[in-house]
Amino acid sequence: MYHISFFLICCCLFFLVIPHSKFSTIAATSVDIIDQTCKKCADEFNVISYKVCATSLQAVPVSHVTNLQGLALIAMELALENATNTLSTIEKLSNKSFDPFALVCLKDCLQLYSDAITTLRDAVGAFLRGDYNTANIWVSAVMEAPTTCEEGFKEKEGEVSPLKNENYNLFQLCDIALCISHLLKYSGSTFLTRCSAT
Ligand SMILES: *[C@@H]1O[C@H](CO)[C@@H](O)[C@H](O)[C@H]1NC(C)=O
Ligand SMILES: *[C@@H]1O[C@H](CO)[C@@H](O)[C@H](O)[C@H]1NC(C)=O
Repeated sequence: MYHISFFLICCCLFFLVIPHSKFSTIAATSVDIIDQTCKKCADEFNVISYKVCATSLQAVPVSHVTNLQGLALIAMELALENATNTLSTIEKLSNKSFDPFALVCLKDCLQLYSDAITTLRDAVGAFLRGDYNTANIWVSAVMEAPTTCEEGFKEKEGEVSPLKNENYNLFQLCDIALCISHLLKYSGSTFLTRCSAT
């Protein structure tokens, strides 16, 4: 019993103390982890753009990004912020003089995005509870919003989606969050095995 707790304390101290004793390298580590993660994600998920991944994640203050959990959470928060901004873009567009078909599409997109925001908030909540599977299911569900929104405009020939970039951005950010979460599953299990291996 004594040995096990001693081992666990050592194990956890190792993970807690090491990063803090190296303040000077934290910034470098963050850039590295973003770079490595985005490379892996761009390789494994062929819809993910390395450039979008790296620039999005690097826009957030690096001090918060020291591990995959942090990165996954940042990707979800970015998706949430993006979807929230898009919702107000859609509201503004709805007041402009579009043709009736486009207005119906915009109305659908408005509903899709407001549901997506609720689902993303739930996904962040699940992630914070450590329920990664539920978080992943919800993030995957959110990805249907930009897809369905974009497809709506394609139903009429010649119609141009005014939300093309917005839909692309939300899809990318969700896919990035899913990829990091997927990487986390593997690194997380090695961490747990190591900590309970006595
Ligand atoms: C949405 O996310 C993309 C990719 O990170 C970013 O380039 C864009 O500025 C964001 N847009 C808004 C309105 O938040
Ligand atoms: C759009 O117009 C309605 C009234 O027609 C107004 O209440 C609303 O504030 C406007 N929204 C934006 C975002 O301009």
